[in-house]
Amino acid sequence: MSQGLGGDGAPVAKGRGARGTAPGAARPPRPLRRAVDRRRRRAETERAAELEVRRQADILVHDFNNLLNVILAANEALAAGLPEGSDAYELARVSQAAAEKGAELLRRMAELARPVEDAPAAAVDAAEVSVAVARLAQVSTAAMVTVVAMAQPESMACHADGADLESALLNLCVNAGHAMPDGGVVRIATTPRKLGGDEAAALGVTPGAYVAFSVVDNGVGMSPEVLARAAEPYFTTRAGRGGTGLGLAGVRDFARRSGGALRLVSELGRGSTATLYLPRA
Ligand SMILES: Nc1ncnc2c1ncn2[C@@H]1O[C@H](COP(=O)(O)OP(=O)(O)OP(=O)(O)O)[C@@H](O)[C@H]1O
Ligand SMILES: [Mg+2]
Repeated sequence: MSQGLGGDGAPVAKGRGARGTAPGAARPPRPLRRAVDRRRRRAETERAAELEVRRQADILVHDFNNLLNVILAANEALAAGLPEGSDAYELARVSQAAAEKGAELLRRMAELARPVEDAPAAAVDAAEVSVAVARLAQVSTAAMVTVVAMAQPESMACHADGADLESALLNLCVNAGHAMPDGGVVRIATTPRKLGGDEAAALGVTPGAYVAFSVVDNGVGMSPEVLARAAEPYFTTRAGRGGTGLGLAGVRDFARRSGGALRLVSELGRGSTATLYLPRA
């Protein structure tokens, strides 16, 4: 009987099934079943260990990010108290630039640490989230700013982490509030959207059904230059007024991570609309 080599280099008898099963046999022989079970259990154990390592890495990334924020804020304060152009000032700027690069590396590291196959996110009710965020945002924006969740045309749910979605929408509402120093209304609108062909490609998402959360303000708006950079990590026009420039960067990351996208539309002096697209459940 002729022989070939199996995957592990062991000879495989050709006259029997490729896995050593007698032709016509319903089940593989018991030793083989045991070997398959053992391999499956080992794969499951390895996968659990891998997920745990990734979870730990995510926590480290998170805590390291807090420290980086301290370094960035301290550097900024340091630079502000030094004469511009002095050696000490330049050192503070170099240190700041290095910390910013570190933050960018950290962001990439966080992407690597993310599980390859995330468990599908739970379905989140769009109206519930909008109302909850409007309430939170009302507390954290200035007294002259009113935040309202608009009634939505139909009941909708999307796939996303509920807490992350709330944080993202809150970020957008806080930005809208900052853009209206003399007060005004921030509207959270939720609409079903079908994104096909070109529009989906432009947003970097797969064509399909989405829920669009739009946060609309009629505040100061953004110039084309600011709009182009608004979601860049650490880009802020509110330096020295508490702005870290991490708000929109975080919202965009969350959108991408959830299989969606962030779109910003703005006109100087007329206001802005930030729309978060998330896959419809
Ligand atoms: N609704 C808006 N209207 C006008 N400008 C905006 C709006 N949202 C964002 N921007 C501009 O984009 C920049 C970046 O926004 P982002 O949320 O990332 O950071 P930030 O608000 O400056 O700081 P932080 O979020 O840490 O408070 C802002 O500084 C602002 O110039
Ligand atoms: Mg912000």
